Amino acid sequence: MAKFIVFEGPDRGGKSTQANLLRKYLEAAGYNVLQTREPGGTPVSEGIRKILLDPENSVSPRAELLLYEASRAQHTEEKILPALQEDKIVICERYTMSTCAYQGYGRGFDMDLINTVNNIATHGLQPDLTFVFLMSDKYFTERGEYLFSDRLELEGNEFREKMRQGYKELVKITPNAVLIDADNTVEEIHAKVLGHLKEFNIL
Ligand SMILES: Nc1ncnc2c1ncn2[C@@H]1O[C@H](COP(=O)(O)OP(=O)(O)OP(=O)(O)O)[C@@H](O)[C@H]1O
Ligand SMILES: [Mg+2]
Repeated sequence: MAKFIVFEGPDRGGKSTQANLLRKYLEAAGYNVLQTREPGGTPVSEGIRKILLDPENSVSPRAELLLYEASRAQHTEEKILPALQEDKIVICERYTMSTCAYQGYGRGFDMDLINTVNNIATHGLQPDLTFVFLMSDKYFTERGEYLFSDRLELEGNEFREKMRQGYKELVKITPNAVLIDADNTVEEIHAKVLGHLKEFNIL
């Protein structure tokens, strides 16, 4: 039973932590799973990821938008669509909603334009379920203390607040999207994720 599950939200909200936990849970339950992430997931996309996240690079907003979409196009065609054809459950960290949040709410690109390029990059493929992990800003430093800060994580509080507001709006207007309070513990959030998978008949 092919299903496409996306983990979204601002930086350090726990996407990777929860994606790893869910993959392990599903594999232990006997499901065939592909865990992947954007930008990246294929050699071409990982190359683009390096360009995008390198703090040394000055990337213009238009180039940034198109690089994300180029990475997404390659990743969708090379990994996500074939895995779904093989009836796998695909867990992907970040997808089209990230571009709506970062390039739409963050950089101010027109949302219709973003939806158009998102559709080109994905062949119109939409997630069966999108989790949006939102945490209070007070945890941003705490949870990232020992982490390397990439180019987008260096944007500052104001940009992060815009992201949070953007994601809150996006959850409301996106089909099959649920908001997860990422201030909770790892275990509590994992339990919520499983609950929603049941609610959406994925488990
Ligand atoms: N619920 C939680 N409570 C406390 N710490 C957490 C929680 N979830 C994740 N963390 C910790 O916060 C940090 C960021 O988590 P994680 O890498 O999963 O977030 P992310 O959303 O994938 O971040 P990025 O956007 O940078 O990829 C990690 O050090 C992780 O161990
Ligand atoms: Mg991550």
